[in-house]
Amino acid sequence: MPGIVIVGAQWGDEGKGKVTDLLAERADAVVRFQGGNNAGHTIVRDGQTWKLHLMPSGILHPGKLCVIGNGVVIDPKVLTDELDELRRRGVDTSSLRISANAHLIMPYHLMLDHAGEAKLGRLQIGTTRRGIGPCYADKAERLGIRVQDLLDEKILKKKIVAALEPRRLSLRPFAKDPKLDLQAMTDEYLTYGHRLERYIADTTRLVHQQLDADRSVVFEGAQGTLLDIDHGTYPFVTSSNPIAGAACIGAGVGPKDIDEVWGVTKAYLTRVGAGPFPTELDGAIADELRERGGEYGTTTGRPRRTGWIDLVALRYATRINSLTALAVTKLDVLSGLDRVNVCTRYRGAEGAEFDYFPYHQTVLHHATGEYLELPGWTDDIRECRSEDELPEAAREYLQVVSEFVRVPIVLIGVGPGRDEVIWTRASAGMAGAGGRAPASTGARPRV
Ligand code: IMP
Repeated sequence: MPGIVIVGAQWGDEGKGKVTDLLAERADAVVRFQGGNNAGHTIVRDGQTWKLHLMPSGILHPGKLCVIGNGVVIDPKVLTDELDELRRRGVDTSSLRISANAHLIMPYHLMLDHAGEAKLGRLQIGTTRRGIGPCYADKAERLGIRVQDLLDEKILKKKIVAALEPRRLSLRPFAKDPKLDLQAMTDEYLTYGHRLERYIADTTRLVHQQLDADRSVVFEGAQGTLLDIDHGTYPFVTSSNPIAGAACIGAGVGPKDIDEVWGVTKAYLTRVGAGPFPTELDGAIADELRERGGEYGTTTGRPRRTGWIDLVALRYATRINSLTALAVTKLDVLSGLDRVNVCTRYRGAEGAEFDYFPYHQTVLHHATGEYLELPGWTDDIRECRSEDELPEAAREYLQVVSEFVRVPIVLIGVGPGRDEVIWTRASAGMAGAGGRAPASTGARPRV
C-alpha cells in the first residue's frame, strides 16, 4: 500500500502521462492496466519530448518497476520499436515487466480495424486503427493470442491456425485474398518473443509483492472515462474500460488495494473521433484552443475537436471512478480569453434540461451545454508555482470546478514542462503527492 489509480476524466488526452510521470518519481511501481498503442502519452522533461504509446510513464525513472498488465493489448512491433527508441536515447528499460497474460495485436486485427471503419463509412467511430477493438473482441471470443504464447512455437502456431480461418472469413468481404501467411506470421511473432522474453513475467504476483511490502504502486489508465465501453458514449468509445475499477481487473488486484483515485481533466475539453460532445465549440475560438493547446493526436496526428469544460460529465466521471483528487491540466491555455465558460447543465430536445449525464444515446446526441460565464485572465501563468500566485479569476475558475464536483484539486498544470505545475495545499494529505504540497502561506485555501 498505497495503490493510486490515475484515470482520464474526459475523452482521453487529458495529460495523464505528465501526472503519472510526476507521481512515478515517488512511487515504487507503475502499472498500465488497459488499452494499447491507441494511447499516446507526451512527457516533456529536461527540454526533451517523449511520446510513449505502450510503455508505462514510469519508464523514464531508472530502476522503477514498470508493468504492462494483463488488461493491456500489445502490438509487439510497436513495443519492440518503443524499447529500441528508449534504449537509443539512453533510457534503461531493464525494469520493464510484461504480463504473460496480456493479449497480442495480430496483423489481422489491424486489417479488421481498417476494414470495419471503411465499411461504416460516414458512421465510422474514428478509431485509431491500431487493431484495438478486434483484439479485445478475440479475447472475449477466446480466440486471442497471449504474450506467453510467444514462447512456445508449437502453441503459437496452433493458436494462430485457430484464429486465422475465422478472421480470413471476416475479412473476405473486404479483400479477396487477405495477405495472411501462417508461417510468416508465426516466424515474425517468434522473433518478437525472443526479443521480449526477458521482460515477460507473472506481473500480478509482482504487483502483489509491491503492495504487500507497503510500497506505493501507481496504476496508470489510458484514454478516458467517457470512452469507457460500458459507461462512455457507446458506440463511440474504445473497447476497454479506462475507469478506476478496471485497474483491479487489468492488473490483478482487489478494490481494497486502491487507496486514492486521481482524475485528470483538462481546463477545457477535447475529443478525437466521432460521437456526441455537448460543449463542442466551432469557429475561431475552437481553432484558438486547438492551436494554443497543441491539440493534435499523439498517436494519429488528427486535429482534436475542442470545447468548454463539461462539469456535468466531470461529475459523472467523479462518481464512476470514486475520484478522491483532481489534477487540472493546461490551465495556461485559457490565459488571454476575456471569458471562460463552464458547462453546468445540458439542454436537450424540446427544451428538456439535464443536470446529470444522460444514459440514452439519442438524448446525449441532442444535448448542448448551458454555461456559467466566468471572467478570464490575461496574465501569463506559466511561472506560477503556488495557488496564491494565480490571478484571482483563475482561482475562481478552479474553485467553481472543484466545488461543483466536490473533489479537491491537488495539481494544476500551467505549462507543458514537468516543472510547470502547482501542487495545491489540498495535495498535502495525499499519498500520491508524497508530501509535495508547499508550506502554508497563511492565505485561505481557495482550491
Ligand atoms: P480505438 O481505441 O482505436 O478503437 O478508438 C475508439 C475511440 O477511442 C476513437 O474515438 C478514438 O479516437 C478514441 N481513442 C482511443 N485512444 C485514445 C486516446 O488515447 N486518446 C483519445 N482518444 C482515444
